[in-house]
Amino acid sequence: MANVVFDYTNLTEVEGGVGSGELQELRPRLEEAIDELLKNPPGFMRLPKTTEFSHPSKALAEELRASGATDFIHVGIGGSALGPIALHRALNHPYYNLLLENLENRPGPRLHFAENPDPASLSAMLDVVKLPNTWVNVVTKSGSTAETMANFLVIRGALIDALGEGGYRERIIFTTDPQEGYLVQIANRETIKTLPIPPDVGGRFSVLTPVGLFPTAVTGIDIDALLRGAAQCVDEVTERGAKHAAVEGAAYHYLLNASKGRNVRVMMPYADSLDRLAAWFVQLWAESLGKEGKGSTPHAAVGTTDQHSQLQLYMEGPQDKVVEFIEVEDHPRDLPIPKAFEDLEGVGYLGSHTVAELLNVECDATRKALTEAGRPNCTIKLGATNEEHLGYLMQALEVQTAVAGSLYGVNAFNQPGVEAGKRITYSRMGRPGY
Ligand code: PA5
Repeated sequence: MANVVFDYTNLTEVEGGVGSGELQELRPRLEEAIDELLKNPPGFMRLPKTTEFSHPSKALAEELRASGATDFIHVGIGGSALGPIALHRALNHPYYNLLLENLENRPGPRLHFAENPDPASLSAMLDVVKLPNTWVNVVTKSGSTAETMANFLVIRGALIDALGEGGYRERIIFTTDPQEGYLVQIANRETIKTLPIPPDVGGRFSVLTPVGLFPTAVTGIDIDALLRGAAQCVDEVTERGAKHAAVEGAAYHYLLNASKGRNVRVMMPYADSLDRLAAWFVQLWAESLGKEGKGSTPHAAVGTTDQHSQLQLYMEGPQDKVVEFIEVEDHPRDLPIPKAFEDLEGVGYLGSHTVAELLNVECDATRKALTEAGRPNCTIKLGATNEEHLGYLMQALEVQTAVAGSLYGVNAFNQPGVEAGKRITYSRMGRPGY
């Protein structure tokens, strides 16, 4: 069972935070929003309870691992990359590729993400992959994102050079909308394996479709446990409705922004492994809610590192932020700090503690310091950083974002603001019709 606790105490007890009366006043709208979400669930709500996407993802991942693949390239951007990157960073060894390199019998391929169409990173990746044993997964729901298609065309060329047309077709997978888009057309034309992105699930809500499940299964992570955690979240949200803490969080963050002028929501996990989870959340919150002049600006930080970079601003800068800590109770690994230099008072005190203890004490100390300085903050406590907890947390943050969309009165599932730049790019790059 996942143990994920949302603690808003320091939002209500701090001057300038949210008063209980204000929350009470908003409660009918919050209830209406969650009732509507449960009555007409958006596509992402059904993902945790179906094997429709995990089965084909696991089967293909197994085939790929059994083939002796040395490298796996995930090509995608935005919602087609940030979820799997967050899971990889949270659940795999931080030096995953290097570690595999040093193993005699590799359990799976090294993993590479091709996101930005940056020639330096793309060439560097092609320098290190062993093309004859490389598999490539092109992930784009629309099947037309310029960045992804350009990266695909470059990698396709390199694969054909290394393997010939026939070999290339064996090694490539398209993860895309099953009916629409250019990628489906190419898949049909070149007889390429595909995995579906359900039409009713948008990119930033798609981590529990093959977008996130397949690459995650390729590295041997237990995707059933991920779905189990997410399903637990759906059950608890269904049971508690507006009383579920993640749902209440939508009300708190909406009020802090819309009536208290707190325009910045800082997500600050105290674990390096969760830095990309914060990056995933930044996209989810920003692209879903930043519309019609509304929305707060999400910002990713990491503790303790950013205590030595941004904390001064959070403590004494403008009163426009709310800091949300993610605290891990049971870190996957810990190290004792050896006793040494006990005669030096500024060093000796550390001995006999552990590194995890220091990290969590610093999280608590920063929380207390912010609270005493009258700076609203809240905490998500994660029992552990494993599949079930990650599945629960990501589902909960998606629910919170969708409910916040209703409170703001915006459509959380579209992104009209990114279209204008795309049209200009298409026109400058000579796409017909633009
Ligand atoms: O959340 C979204 O919908 C976007 O961020 C998309 O994921 C992103 O633009 C990539 O789109 P696509 O998957 O169509 O290539």
